[in-house]
Amino acid sequence: MYFRLFLANVLALSFPSVQACGGGHDHLGLDEHRGTPSLGTLALRGTCRPKVAIYNVRVFDGEKVLPPSTVVIDGHLIGADPAGATQHMDAENAVLLPGFIDSHTHPGSVTDLESLTKYGVTTAYQLACFTPQQCPSLQGYDGLVDMFYASAPAAAPGSQHGQMVLNQTGNADLLVRGVNDTARWIEEQVSWEPDFFKIIIQTPGLSQDTLNSLVSKAHTAGRKAISHAADFASHRQAILSSTDQIHHTPLDVAIDESLAQDALARGQIVVPTLSVMKAFSELELRPGRIGNYTAARESVRIYNDMGVPILAGTDANNEIAAVIPFGESMHSELQLLVEAGMSNLDALRAATFLPALYWGLEDRGVVEPGKRADLILVDGDPLLDIKVTRNIKKVWVGGREFST
Ligand SMILES: *[C@@H]1O[C@H](CO)[C@@H](O)[C@H](O)[C@H]1NC(C)=O
Ligand SMILES: *[C@@H]1O[C@H](CO)[C@@H](O)[C@H](O)[C@H]1NC(C)=O
Ligand SMILES: *[C@@H]1O[C@H](CO)[C@@H](O)[C@H](O)[C@H]1NC(C)=O
Ligand SMILES: [Zn+2]
Repeated sequence: MYFRLFLANVLALSFPSVQACGGGHDHLGLDEHRGTPSLGTLALRGTCRPKVAIYNVRVFDGEKVLPPSTVVIDGHLIGADPAGATQHMDAENAVLLPGFIDSHTHPGSVTDLESLTKYGVTTAYQLACFTPQQCPSLQGYDGLVDMFYASAPAAAPGSQHGQMVLNQTGNADLLVRGVNDTARWIEEQVSWEPDFFKIIIQTPGLSQDTLNSLVSKAHTAGRKAISHAADFASHRQAILSSTDQIHHTPLDVAIDESLAQDALARGQIVVPTLSVMKAFSELELRPGRIGNYTAARESVRIYNDMGVPILAGTDANNEIAAVIPFGESMHSELQLLVEAGMSNLDALRAATFLPALYWGLEDRGVVEPGKRADLILVDGDPLLDIKVTRNIKKVWVGGREFST
């Protein structure tokens, strides 16, 4: 260990272009996607990355797997010219995918971030923040999954999620008391600087008027409104509210084609989180709880057949009864989406190109020069067998290779 550190220092001092990385993940304390990083930070981030040339690699370009070629990692980005590379690698015809984007997670520690990264999740959305500090404190770890985060969940007093918010925080001001309370709530949450707003739709819960008002005020505040909806009635309300994304799928009865048509017409996106729906359906249910996984799976098939865009999200968490492992679950989610009727290609796009497009991340989601070097190298072709995404040989986040 001391020797390695010593060697790293010597290399860094004597050959500044031959860069060595320590094993840890320095917390740089910057919020890359919002603030402007200082020069000092950029310099620090730049010191730890060799220029890498990967030969004999088959790139998944978002549509198909291309014949073997050379891919270059240059600093934080995918480069074009292998000249000057200090690290050379023969990929032996392995397939290179864009790093996965998990559109629904709840990381609570650096360990969770490490698990996500290890399994190829290079971007994650955290869907519930209960204090202004909780979520930003997990941002900016060099070489680990890049995390974006929600507001506190907007829930009604007396609803199940409202009770959860109270249990977590003891703070009744986090609840939304009605349509005349949405301006106050949005204003308070804007001061937490969330990347997007989270709204809970359930019965009993927020009224349709209150939901509509939250969505419209979220948009006025320049952010997306993302809604939790886990049964048929909630999907109907979510669609009516014009929320940008509907997370979860019904565990009572499947949506129907006319609902899917309405969602399509409003340009809405669905994040089914089949991993957690399946886990919930397998729990021993309390009386009155619903657990019909067939309805969840069937809803995915219908949304997909009707052309509603679907994104991969797992609800990875270690807090609720349905524990979902970080990172590993992304691979099961892809399998579940395929079992629900999506093609392997659509499942892969749901974890890469489409979330980048619909979350508005122009710098990633595709293996192309100039994009972030968020990459997964896997043995085998996932267009032929979706399970091979598990055969991970290497992961890079922002040009830094992940190693445990
Ligand atoms: C909230 O806490 C109470 C008391 O511990 C518990 O009985 C209840 O199940 C919790 N509710 C939720 C939704 O977490
Ligand atoms: C908001 O509306 C509720 C009824 O829905 C009412 O009880 C409350 O007093 C109103 N609050 C304000 C600040 O107007
Ligand atoms: C489960 O969902 C399927 C699909 O919507 C439906 O046909 C079935 O009746 C549901 N089962 C129960 C017990 O509600
Ligand atoms: Zn969740």
